[in-house]
Amino acid sequence: MKNIPFQMGAAGNLRRAWLPTNSFPIIVLAMVQTILTGAIQAQTSPRERVSFNDSWLFTKDDPADTGDKLSYENLKAWINCTGAEFATNAPTARPEGNPGADISYTQSGFDDHDWRKLSLPHDWAIEGPFEQKYEGSTGKLKFWGPVWYRKHFDVPASDAGKKIFLDVDGAMSFSEVWLNGQFVGGWPYGYASFELDLTPFIKAGGENVLSIRLDSPAQSSRWYPGAGMYRNVWLVKTAPVHVGQWGTFITTPEVSASAATVKIQVHVKNEADSHATVVVKNEIYTLAAEGRKGKSVASLTTDGLQISAHGTEAIAGQVILKDPHLWGIKNPQRYLAVTSIEQNGRLVDRYETPFGIRRIEFTADNGFLLNGEHVRLNGVCDHADLGALGSAVNTRALERQLEILREMGDNAIRTSHNPPAPELLELADRMGFVVMDETFDCWVRGKRPGDYHLVYPEWHEKDARTLIRRDRNHPCVILWSIGNEIAEQGNARGHEIGRELAAIVHQEDTTRPVTAACNNLQAGFNGFQHVVDVFGYNYKPNDYTRFRATNSSIPLFGSETASCVSSRGEYFFPVSNDKARGRADFQVSSYDLYAPPWATPPGAEFKGQDANPFVAGEFVWTGFDYIGEPTPYDRDASNLLNFTDPVEKEKLARQLEELGHIEVPSRSSYFGIIDLAGFKKDRFYIYQAQWRPEFPMAHILPHWNWPDRAGQVTPVHVYTSGDEAELFLNGKSLGKKKKGQYEYRIRWDDAVYQPGELKVVAYKNGKKWATDTVKTTGAAAKLALQPDRAKIRADGKDLSYITLTVEDKNGLMVPRTKNPIHFGIEGPGEIVATDNGDATDLTVFHASERNAFNGLALVIVRAKAGQPGAIKVSAHADGLKDATAKITAK
Ligand code: GAL
Repeated sequence: MKNIPFQMGAAGNLRRAWLPTNSFPIIVLAMVQTILTGAIQAQTSPRERVSFNDSWLFTKDDPADTGDKLSYENLKAWINCTGAEFATNAPTARPEGNPGADISYTQSGFDDHDWRKLSLPHDWAIEGPFEQKYEGSTGKLKFWGPVWYRKHFDVPASDAGKKIFLDVDGAMSFSEVWLNGQFVGGWPYGYASFELDLTPFIKAGGENVLSIRLDSPAQSSRWYPGAGMYRNVWLVKTAPVHVGQWGTFITTPEVSASAATVKIQVHVKNEADSHATVVVKNEIYTLAAEGRKGKSVASLTTDGLQISAHGTEAIAGQVILKDPHLWGIKNPQRYLAVTSIEQNGRLVDRYETPFGIRRIEFTADNGFLLNGEHVRLNGVCDHADLGALGSAVNTRALERQLEILREMGDNAIRTSHNPPAPELLELADRMGFVVMDETFDCWVRGKRPGDYHLVYPEWHEKDARTLIRRDRNHPCVILWSIGNEIAEQGNARGHEIGRELAAIVHQEDTTRPVTAACNNLQAGFNGFQHVVDVFGYNYKPNDYTRFRATNSSIPLFGSETASCVSSRGEYFFPVSNDKARGRADFQVSSYDLYAPPWATPPGAEFKGQDANPFVAGEFVWTGFDYIGEPTPYDRDASNLLNFTDPVEKEKLARQLEELGHIEVPSRSSYFGIIDLAGFKKDRFYIYQAQWRPEFPMAHILPHWNWPDRAGQVTPVHVYTSGDEAELFLNGKSLGKKKKGQYEYRIRWDDAVYQPGELKVVAYKNGKKWATDTVKTTGAAAKLALQPDRAKIRADGKDLSYITLTVEDKNGLMVPRTKNPIHFGIEGPGEIVATDNGDATDLTVFHASERNAFNGLALVIVRAKAGQPGAIKVSAHADGLKDATAKITAK
């Protein structure tokens, strides 16, 4: 058995782990514990990192006559110098000249007063409109083509002599940046975080103008990628001697309950023209969940570090902490390292690094171990969009997703198929989720004509290294994925590329394993399994045993599983175990038995995992529905007809005849366990039953409003964490049934519909465990509004998610209702978006009118920045009693 305790090795490894490309000596010092001198500690650091999100101007398209002057192809000689320190053979010297100088939008003096004013993060494509003519696979939204952002900002004269950087958490995509008319740099990959050095072009003591051009190619994604400056942007100022970008690396090579070794590496840059001698101090504090710095627990000092002019040095040291608070899923405790750099008795930098002390191991026999304890990875894959908000990152929206996932028993996230927003990792650290952090969806061979393969040769090394540098201090990150369903899994050239990527990862971080998500069965046998440290299979629950028989020492997990499809609240009869079956209304039945040909319902994967307990767990495709990829309705018409049962096929054929084509309205996925609005589908409960076996729960499906089915067979299925259940219809038992081995639902497939009450009583080990009831409701009579949070911060970012329910007079949600709702708002708040989870709804997300979908709708409200007060949200539907909700903004 191969146990891989991914931890830093001896000092000899440090050089390799630090910066393999631009080698500079690592000085490993036995650091002594000291107390920081009071005088230095009291000084404020010259480092500032301020949000740069406000007061941007935006326009679409290039100025007339730009042609392809600013295309990546034409500018790449300049662009490719950006981030040179992260690649072995990247060009560092820019060609002569200032590309784009003749384009008006790059020039400081250009009159941009009529451009649209906005704040970042901003996703320009989510505004739509949805257009039938665009493909469903990217959400029927136009996200490609050039757009521009400009920002005017003052830099005080006192900043002369400082280093000034623009830190972009992500810009979609092919960014090109000018400052005061001078080309600064750019970064093609839209999911990457990057830094640009503005210093040579900045005007201290006057106005500066930043111009950013983005230009995503058409057909560059398999899903909706979002568009624009969709993540946070920061202005960073430092002294010439400072901690480098992502310049700390903290590892915990020895961890036990009684003591932990904390190793801190610091990468110090001297950007001055003269040699520097500095003192590097690291003080470690406890860190409370909400980010409050606690008490100091240790400190380390390195004296007399010499850095030549324009040089970089790294130092490393370690300290042993007694009785450490370990980071874990249940109790995600963290620490904060505060690094101070002193030069000539003056504080020149202070840099903070939150980290966690924990031990991770992937084993071939016993899956994943966290701090020595087995943890099954109950994970989901998710794309980066936040439903109706599009891809514009919002911390509360992410936090809400994690809260819902945690209720289900999820403990792991895969950032499919790209680097996530930094805020996701911060939340995962704080809330206790482990993360599989992914680089790419393709390498040299693309999946779409305009995707990442176009820049892979020049950019993969920078994108891989920057991802790891950025994320390697997060305790939540447990796996680095070098790719998803990479076409090259099957050939020798691909294995070579894989080995190169794996080596890059190991150079940057020896503490975590490399993995890849493989859909090619042969990748587990053709040698590719040796390219990675931990092997991930996509959709292969029936092949785990076989993999192990051949590869007894390679840890294995389900990197992507299930891909079951369903529409919340839709049930089609007869119920069958067929693969996904289409309908002319473009919905999918919610009996959770349907999956496209490569995929499986949830139970098939549970069986694969339960029968092979050495498998480390799974990442379900997907936690939340996402925009784009509306399988099974992302096919062309002829394919769609193959998916469809006879009656439905007939309807579609008629459409085809009348229109000459089939109009498929679907613009978002059906894969989510939770719909696009964040409402739970039935599937939520089959996962909760499996992932939280100690949580007493039972869930009945379908709803029980079938006036057209009286006397007809209407199967009832129950998900429960119990092992046995008895179903009652109007008080009469329909039988008590036990779950068999590898059965994950209890079925009454011959139940006959009569209106009234369905009640299930679940048992565990012979004892009553949980119940659930579903009742036939009366007609819709009123609306109800329920905010997830009634108090929010008046900071222009915080959100309240308000659920609208269509109810009968007794307050029961009426299924199958689709009433048009009008939402209103009074007070210092705004409606950011509405949704209902219906994948076929082509109403733009910012509309305040939206149909309910199967009884529910959602309105997302944001409080205005700096305007506390009472916000009143109202909902109206013709013929029903209105509802209001009050939210307080503080
Ligand atoms: C996988 C792929 C995912 C998604 C999924 C849908 O093969 O990795 O990105 O397309 O299929 O089932």
